[in-house]
Amino acid sequence: VLRLAVRVRREEAELVLAELLELAPGGVEEVDLGDAIEYAVYGAPGELPALPDLRAAAGAALVDVSTSVVADDWAERWREFHRPLVLEGAITVRPPWEPAGTTPIDVIIDPGQAFGTGAHASTRLCLELMLDLAGGRAAGGRDAGGHAAGALLDLGCGSGVLGIVAARLGWSPVLAVDCDAASVDAARANARANAVALDVRRLDLRTDQLPEVPTVVANLLSPLLIAGASRIAAGPVRVVIASGILVPEADEVARAFAAHGFTVADRRARGEWAALVLARHP
Ligand SMILES: C[S@@+](CC[C@H](N)C(=O)[O-])C[C@H]1O[C@@H](n2cnc3c(N)ncnc32)[C@H](O)[C@@H]1O
Repeated sequence: VLRLAVRVRREEAELVLAELLELAPGGVEEVDLGDAIEYAVYGAPGELPALPDLRAAAGAALVDVSTSVVADDWAERWREFHRPLVLEGAITVRPPWEPAGTTPIDVIIDPGQAFGTGAHASTRLCLELMLDLAGGRAAGGRDAGGHAAGALLDLGCGSGVLGIVAARLGWSPVLAVDCDAASVDAARANARANAVALDVRRLDLRTDQLPEVPTVVANLLSPLLIAGASRIAAGPVRVVIASGILVPEADEVARAFAAHGFTVADRRARGEWAALVLARHP
C-alpha cells in the first residue's frame, strides 16, 4: 500500500483541504509540520488520486508531493483519523469500529467512497444548525406545539450523514440526493446501518427538479449554491441550511437567495467555513 502525501503552506491549507476532499472524499490524514501541513491518503497504486490532479488541488500552496510504501499497520493508521465527532453532548457521529457514543443520538457513518465523516467544518456547522432548529423537539418529531417536523431534503448527501441525523432529530420523511453514484450507495448503506428510513435518489441539482419539501440542508460549495438557488427556491421551501461556504463568500450566497424572498435567520462560522440559515415566510 502506498502513502501519497502532499505538503502545503499552512496559510492556504484549509482551502487546499476542501479541494483534496473532492479527490479523496473518504478523508485525508493531517500532519502539522509547523510552517506546512501535510495531507496524506493511503491506497493501492490504481486507487490513489492522480499526481496532476493533486498538484492542481494544491495550486500555489504546494510545497512538496511524496510517495512512500507503508507497512502492515496502514489500515490502523488510516482509522486513526476517522475520529468520532461529539456535538454539544447531543450527537455522536462515529466510524463503525469505534465504541458506541453516550449521547442521545449516536450515528455510525462509513463514508466508503463518499464525502462525509461528519468531521469537516462545513458538515459540523450543518449539524449544529439542525440541532438548533430541532431544539427541544421530542424524538417523535413533534415540537412543543405538537407540529410535525415535516419533510427534509439532504441535498448533496455524500455519506448521508446529515439526512440520517435529521431523521433521528425528528424530520420525516427525509430525502437524500446526490449526483454521484458512490454517494447514493454509501447513503443507502449508512441509513440501513442506522435503521433510519432515508429515501435516497441520484439527482443533479444543475439539471433535475428537486423533491418538494419545506426544509433543505445543502452542504455544497458556494458556486453551486448560487447557481442552484432558483432551483432550490422553486418549491415550497421555507428554510434552507446552506453550508460549504468560505467566509468571504457568505454575503454573495445570501444575496442569491434574497432574490427569491429568503432572509438570513442565522449565520455561523468555523475557521474558514461559514453556514447560513435562510428563511422565507409565506
Ligand atoms: C461537501 S459534500 C457534502 C456531503 C455531506 N452532505 C456532508 O455534509 O458531509 C458535497 C456533496 O454534494 C454532491 N454534489 C456536488 N454537485 C452536485 C450536484 N450538482 N447535484 C447533486 N449533488 C452534488 C457531491 O457529490 C458531494 O457528495
